[in-house]
Amino acid sequence: MELPKIKIYEENSKILHQKSSEVTFPLSDEDKLLAYDTIKYLKMSQDEEIAEKYNLRAGMGMAFVQMGKLKRIFVIANELEDKTFEEYIVINPKIISQSEELIYVGEGEGCLSVNRPVEGIVPRHARITVTYYDENGKQKTIRAREELAIAFQHEIDHLNGILFTDKIDPNDPYKDYEKMREI
Ligand code: CO
Repeated sequence: MELPKIKIYEENSKILHQKSSEVTFPLSDEDKLLAYDTIKYLKMSQDEEIAEKYNLRAGMGMAFVQMGKLKRIFVIANELEDKTFEEYIVINPKIISQSEELIYVGEGEGCLSVNRPVEGIVPRHARITVTYYDENGKQKTIRAREELAIAFQHEIDHLNGILFTDKIDPNDPYKDYEKMREI
């Protein structure tokens, strides 16, 4: 399997701090192909052997803005216990409800645009319901929980020009941890 050629912008790029625009349908072939390529890239990045061969960091999600396109599109490749993947192409998402309960990734969140260790935790809703459109313009609703819910919130933040590092107070990087559940 050949690794799709994808240029990933890093956190110091201005574009990552800009808001992406709503997408109109039909989606261009170029954007569809980029979405499929990005899913392939993410799946390969989560395979240890391939990741080592190509020197990749594992990632489960990526927003178009991370590849220099200010469009409200992101993809997620979520590996399940049986080693298969749930794949999502998410366009113009809206969070329609969220749990009061907050969770955080104990080992810290990661991002393919942030190539350094980051101290601290990010509060996330444990469960969210999101409506969005797929690449064919079909409306969908997903109820995501735990790690997948965090991935959706992380990617939706990207569409609004927000990186997970922006949500960590450097003077108090583990702020309010006792009010949240670690996953
Ligand atoms: Co990210």
